[in-house]
Amino acid sequence: RIVYVNGEYVPEEEAKISVFDRGFLMGDGVYEVSSILDGKLVDNDAHLARLERSLNELNMGWPCTKEELVDIQREVIRRNDVEEGAVYWQITRGAADRDFVFPKDAKPSLVMFTQARKIVDVPAAKTGMSVITVQDIRWHRRDIKTVQLLAPSLAKMEAKAAGADDAWLVEDGYVTEGSSNNAFIITQDGTIVTRKLSNDILHGITRRAVLKIAEQEGLKVEERSFTPDEAYDAAEAFITSASAFVMPVVKIDNRILGNGVPGPIASKLRELYIEMAK
Ligand code: PDD
Repeated sequence: RIVYVNGEYVPEEEAKISVFDRGFLMGDGVYEVSSILDGKLVDNDAHLARLERSLNELNMGWPCTKEELVDIQREVIRRNDVEEGAVYWQITRGAADRDFVFPKDAKPSLVMFTQARKIVDVPAAKTGMSVITVQDIRWHRRDIKTVQLLAPSLAKMEAKAAGADDAWLVEDGYVTEGSSNNAFIITQDGTIVTRKLSNDILHGITRRAVLKIAEQEGLKVEERSFTPDEAYDAAEAFITSASAFVMPVVKIDNRILGNGVPGPIASKLRELYIEMAK
């Protein structure tokens, strides 16, 4: 794989970043993941806008202009010849002697790489996925997409150890979101429910697109918190993210939803999202 690091395209084995980079030492960095479908970026402007917001919230600068960043995305996709998958990019505050105080003149680092993988034609879309609920132990600024991913990583490991595919995080009795996705349930009367935007969750780009599609389809949407108990009684459930698009959830904490296969509304939303993304 050819990766991009601070101005250069190099084979991944040759890519270098300073041991003093604050992304490495302190998790002082932000990232984005845009999906690639038919060689094209999906909803990329929204990812760029969210990146800008993350940078502003952390008082961090751009390493290049937005236009240059998009050129690098296209180039890294081209060089790796990716038709379907994702482009990952992260900006860290840069290298400086270790100190909790932000360095005055560090140069932000930009790293970018692609991951070729199937998003549309995946088995989970037909079988649905299972989740378990675990305690949300993350920090309180989940609206900022930082590279500090140890808590969600532990949550996912707990899910895997329990034989499930992923974890839904719970705080004060309510589901916040998935380990790396937004969580939705569909009530028995067909209402789509997902937590409203706040600092408690990442403002998912796919979430926003799916809510728009749902409204266009005349589906009822409620942006509010829900408990695991309400989720157990749901007719359907699903998650959204750039890496999964819309993925039906058929089992929550070993309670099977409906007849244990992806429901009609989640499946329809997945189909419509893919159509839109193409
Ligand atoms: N994860 N919530 C969390 C905590 C996430 O990490 C993500 C994305 C989402 C979904 O956001 P979006 O629809 O904008 O991808 C929600 C990315 C894909 C990742 O870490 O790989």
